[in-house]
Amino acid sequence: MTRIAYVNGRYVPHHEAAVHIEDRGYQFADGVYEVFFLHHGRLIGEQGHMDRLEHSLKELRIAWPMSRRAIGVVIREIARRNRVRDGFIYLQISRGVARRDHQFPKDVDSSLVLTGRRMPPLNKEELRQGVGVITIPDIRWKRHDIKSVSLLPNILGKQQAHEAGAYEAWMVNDQGMVTEGTLSNAWIVTQDGELVTHNVSHAILNGITRLTVLEAAAEAGIQFSERPFSVAEALAAKEAFVTSSTSHLKAVTSIDGQTVGNGHVGELTTRMLDLYVDFIENHGGPQNTSSWN
Ligand code: PDD
Repeated sequence: MTRIAYVNGRYVPHHEAAVHIEDRGYQFADGVYEVFFLHHGRLIGEQGHMDRLEHSLKELRIAWPMSRRAIGVVIREIARRNRVRDGFIYLQISRGVARRDHQFPKDVDSSLVLTGRRMPPLNKEELRQGVGVITIPDIRWKRHDIKSVSLLPNILGKQQAHEAGAYEAWMVNDQGMVTEGTLSNAWIVTQDGELVTHNVSHAILNGITRLTVLEAAAEAGIQFSERPFSVAEALAAKEAFVTSSTSHLKAVTSIDGQTVGNGHVGELTTRMLDLYVDFIENHGGPQNTSSWN
């Protein structure tokens, strides 16, 4: 089967898909993206991803390349043409192609690119295996709420984690607080059983998976706190996990080589994974997607 990508109005074979060398996404990382997750043929959190995309575009003053509705059609078409029932759709919008000048170009259409990738279906057993995270300084700019394609600190952090034999790197700000992972949101369960993740602010990307897990917790009557937590608090936590559209809800069993809790996946983490999967199967994603910063 030939993989098909979408590039500015055309469906093209993946290996031929290309943008111009003066695309501002390529030259300046002047663009935004979203990663949509498909679960058993269902697009998860579409409204949330679209609302967040709107936020990113508005904050960077990049125009929609086409209507939200039309993008929804292209997403489904890419899923269909690539036979993605379980997997991801990657969407990227850049400010467009123009002669290289830092200021915004005039009268330029933004570029739109989509790709699809099939993955094995979400596997709870695998997600319960437990992974390690390391902590690293958060060296990013100050607008993490914008899903910008400018990801150098994130890829350096993820590479560092990989070289340390860990799954993810949790980024720590100048106050010693964990903001988030390089591609996921960070969560802990304190010794008192409090479920904690960073509050929505410019310091984090408000994950669609994060919102889903919070709504699933609320629906089940589980208390949670949206607040920053320190590295010391994370090291003393009973449980920890990460969430993202690609990681789903993955248990964390070590931080900086130190065991979390008793080293086994915690009770609340297991419960939240079950609730998360039930929630997406029942509701298709978070219902309240209006708060971006
Ligand atoms: N990353 N924080 C950061 C820095 C992220 O890059 C992501 C997503 C998240 C979680 O967001 P969501 O739950 O909406 O996927 C949090 C995507 C998956 C990526 O870059 O591949």
